[in-house]
Amino acid sequence: MKSWRKIAIVTPLYNHWISNQNMTEIRQILVTNALPYANAALHLGHILEYTQTDVWVRFQRMCGHQCYYVSADDAHGTAIMLKADEKGISPEQHIADMRSIHEADFRDFHISVDNYHSTHSDENRELSELIYNRLVANEHIAKREITQAFDAEKQLFLADRYIKGTCPKCGAEDQYGDNCEACGATYSPTDLINPVSALSGTTPIEKKSDHYFFKLPEFTEFLQSWTRSGAVQDEVANKLGEWLETGLQEWDISRDAPYFGFEIPNAPGKYFYVWLDAPIGYMASFKNLCDKNNLDFDQYWAADSNTELYHFIGKDIVNFHALFWPAMLTSANFRTPTKVCVHGFVTVNGKKMSKSRGTFINARCYLDHLNPEYLRYYYASKLTASVEDIDLNLEDFTQKVNSDLVGKVVNIASRCAKFVTKGNDGVLSSTIENPALWQQVSDAGKVIAEHYENREFSKAIREIMAQADAANEYIAAKEPWKLNKDETQQQKVQDICSLGINLFRLLLTYLKPVLPSVAEDAELFLNDTLSWSSIESPLITHKINNFKPLLQRVEKDQVDAMVEASKQDIAQVVTKSVEGPLKDQPLAEEISFDDFIKVDLRVARIVKAEAVEGADKLLALTLDIGGQTRNVFSGIKGSYQPADLEGRLTIMVANLAPRKMRFGVSEGMVLAAADKKGIYLFSPDSGAQPGQRVT
Ligand code: 2FM
Ligand code: ZN
Repeated sequence: MKSWRKIAIVTPLYNHWISNQNMTEIRQILVTNALPYANAALHLGHILEYTQTDVWVRFQRMCGHQCYYVSADDAHGTAIMLKADEKGISPEQHIADMRSIHEADFRDFHISVDNYHSTHSDENRELSELIYNRLVANEHIAKREITQAFDAEKQLFLADRYIKGTCPKCGAEDQYGDNCEACGATYSPTDLINPVSALSGTTPIEKKSDHYFFKLPEFTEFLQSWTRSGAVQDEVANKLGEWLETGLQEWDISRDAPYFGFEIPNAPGKYFYVWLDAPIGYMASFKNLCDKNNLDFDQYWAADSNTELYHFIGKDIVNFHALFWPAMLTSANFRTPTKVCVHGFVTVNGKKMSKSRGTFINARCYLDHLNPEYLRYYYASKLTASVEDIDLNLEDFTQKVNSDLVGKVVNIASRCAKFVTKGNDGVLSSTIENPALWQQVSDAGKVIAEHYENREFSKAIREIMAQADAANEYIAAKEPWKLNKDETQQQKVQDICSLGINLFRLLLTYLKPVLPSVAEDAELFLNDTLSWSSIESPLITHKINNFKPLLQRVEKDQVDAMVEASKQDIAQVVTKSVEGPLKDQPLAEEISFDDFIKVDLRVARIVKAEAVEGADKLLALTLDIGGQTRNVFSGIKGSYQPADLEGRLTIMVANLAPRKMRFGVSEGMVLAAADKKGIYLFSPDSGAQPGQRVT
């Protein structure tokens, strides 16, 4: 318990829960997520990790602990440099654009980070240099010459993934530098037959240069003990044990110019490899928060810190977080993580996310169609403390959200509230009709809290739903709606429904880490703040507010529309990535005249254009196509002010099947071209009339 700090009593129940621990402890916790690369949109895999972390953080805060949660964009590396190049903008501009997109996605999934920063920041440069200089001073850095593949046309050293060629094992063409997708063989790029640079198509040459290495093998003993100290799950410790057994290699931490990153002190033209400064980005984001809020950085990062540090990551980046990172921190005289919490990957409908199946779903695409709390709930209901993959089965998702949240939880309040509101002016009874039931659901808080603490969210959700079942069985057995017909039973009805509302309050308290927005609405209805400390006592003679529906059912067509839109998202990406002269743009597959004539294009007048609350890119357009009106959601907000569109003519696809989106149904599409500078809506020449067919 060395890392727990004694301060004051906060929450009686939580202290009761930690009964065998000290009754007066507020934990001081710093939590991080893997930092997403600033070169791509977030997808539902990122959202799994951020949901897991956010639920844990919100739970800690509800218990009265001090829990800071920081993240950032991972902004360095060759991929980001090339992406900016491709867009024709500076890397700085590119990472700024990506950062605001990422921040908006996380915000809309209710991720409660205290700070979202960038690894391309002053704080990160200073900390990276500081740590590197300490490693140098401790003689943990080696320098030696190595030979690598080099693209003489682009003047770039080529990482394995930028080299393509024919597989030496099976002869499959066009395989990447280190493994063959056709036969699964792994090899070194020099083994490839006819290797070419994926950047220029030229044959790479071999070139020598000096590189800097972190002497990881010197930390073998330390890591053998650290990885077995409870800092990682057992299954992860076992995997690390295998690597440690095989023997660690020195880690190449430098890259040659041109590279987007930080130049290494006293090594002109050499840059820190992105993975050197990425985890230091955790410290940098926290430093930035400390500077803004006058917090004590050293208290959290000094070698003898008695605070707790948790990193949530995916299983693909364990080596960086459980070998290189603790070794670097130790050498540089900083504290090591309390825990590295490793999760598995997301599959959709039992398979790897796939662009063509429409199951590679971007965070924004999900948000355009569905409520974020549905997914938070579904993920929570599947998450455990293990590294097993999580399957997002879209049918199960629909069914579970509808039956658990709408059918079981929200239903309790909607069934009971009206009797209390009408019969007793919204004031709950002064007694608890069934004290044993109240006690049972209240006591369940203890085991639910343990499950949250241990990241066994699926167990927590199972327990919450078991209690919801008990509450529903009670109400069903008492049938207040029948008793209500009898004048003499009015008090009984009030007592039953008041207990129903109190049970609902307990359930929403337990679900608050998962469903922050529903819980906020429930707090307004209950006229109460839901916290872990308040579950010990019920609301007695307490005025509640009118009940408003808290959550809609998920409709299958919303899910289907999201999958369809994901396919279109990908199509758009493909179209955008082939901008340029026509000769560089492959035409789509040939279609017959009969295919073409199926598309009913019409002249449309935009009679109304409005921003859509909660949607960053969409405008809601009302289109007149000659006596008929169509409502269309169009992703053109970035280039048009709604008022400028009203009255203008455009062209729409009028016979596209309606798509149900989160904000309503979209009944067609307007035509526009797009490039990196903007979006260009089509207009017919003047004189065209709404409703005319375009051929
Ligand atoms: O794998 C990734 O997406 C990396 N950008 C994660 C970095 S985590 C940390 F070390 F910054
Ligand atoms: Zn092969």
